[in-house]
Amino acid sequence: MNSSETKLNAHSKKGAGKILESPSIFNFWQKITGAEEWKSRFMREYIKPFQDARILDVGCGTGSVLNYIDKTINVDYVGCDINQDYIRQAGKKFGSKGTFYCCDVNALSEKESDFDIVIAIGIFHHLDDKSALTLVDSVKRKLKTGGAFFIAEPVRTENQSRFEKYLMKNDRGKNIKAETGYLSMLKDFFSSVESKIVRDSHFIPWTVNVITCKNSL
Ligand SMILES: C[S@@+](CC[C@H](N)C(=O)[O-])C[C@H]1O[C@@H](n2cnc3c(N)ncnc32)[C@H](O)[C@@H]1O
Repeated sequence: MNSSETKLNAHSKKGAGKILESPSIFNFWQKITGAEEWKSRFMREYIKPFQDARILDVGCGTGSVLNYIDKTINVDYVGCDINQDYIRQAGKKFGSKGTFYCCDVNALSEKESDFDIVIAIGIFHHLDDKSALTLVDSVKRKLKTGGAFFIAEPVRTENQSRFEKYLMKNDRGKNIKAETGYLSMLKDFFSSVESKIVRDSHFIPWTVNVITCKNSL
């Protein structure tokens, strides 16, 4: 088993999962489910990129968060994803606006560090618990003191409809947790961890856990 297979053992490439490995089908799915609207809101309300911010986007997919960074500011954006086709598409569309690597975040070189902002949208539920902890540890080491780590993950809560439960059960990511599950893997690494449950994030029923971790001064 190679390293990307090891990291993806909570990720299904069967059925719909296999189809979504194609960048154009993934982008279309993101549009119709409201994931693109959600990313725009997540950037605007939570992340708020600022002039000259150094940003790392882990599991960046096709790099679409770059659509939601104010065109009047300059940022130093680095995206990494293990899906080669997504990274190729990201480079084609946003090559002049960022640097893209096809690799696991733990394999990013030492020179890619000192980030003000690290973004993780929808990657943790694709990882088993051990890989998720390794990712948190790498992010912590790549963040500047005073930097912030912004996470948005699908979350299991009480009172979800049968349809939402069905959607989560059939997601490519096979490790969707409850809020306590996400928080317990973060609390030992960061001095401040804030969590919010967002129920109106997508056009489909899809509850998201937004977590902001600060690497305090
Ligand atoms: C739900 S998609 C979200 C993509 C992107 N963040 C977005 O919001 O458009 C999850 C992404 O995580 C990537 N991924 C999964 N495991 C990874 C790993 N170990 N290292 C880097 N990327 C990974 C997948 O290839 C996929 O692009």
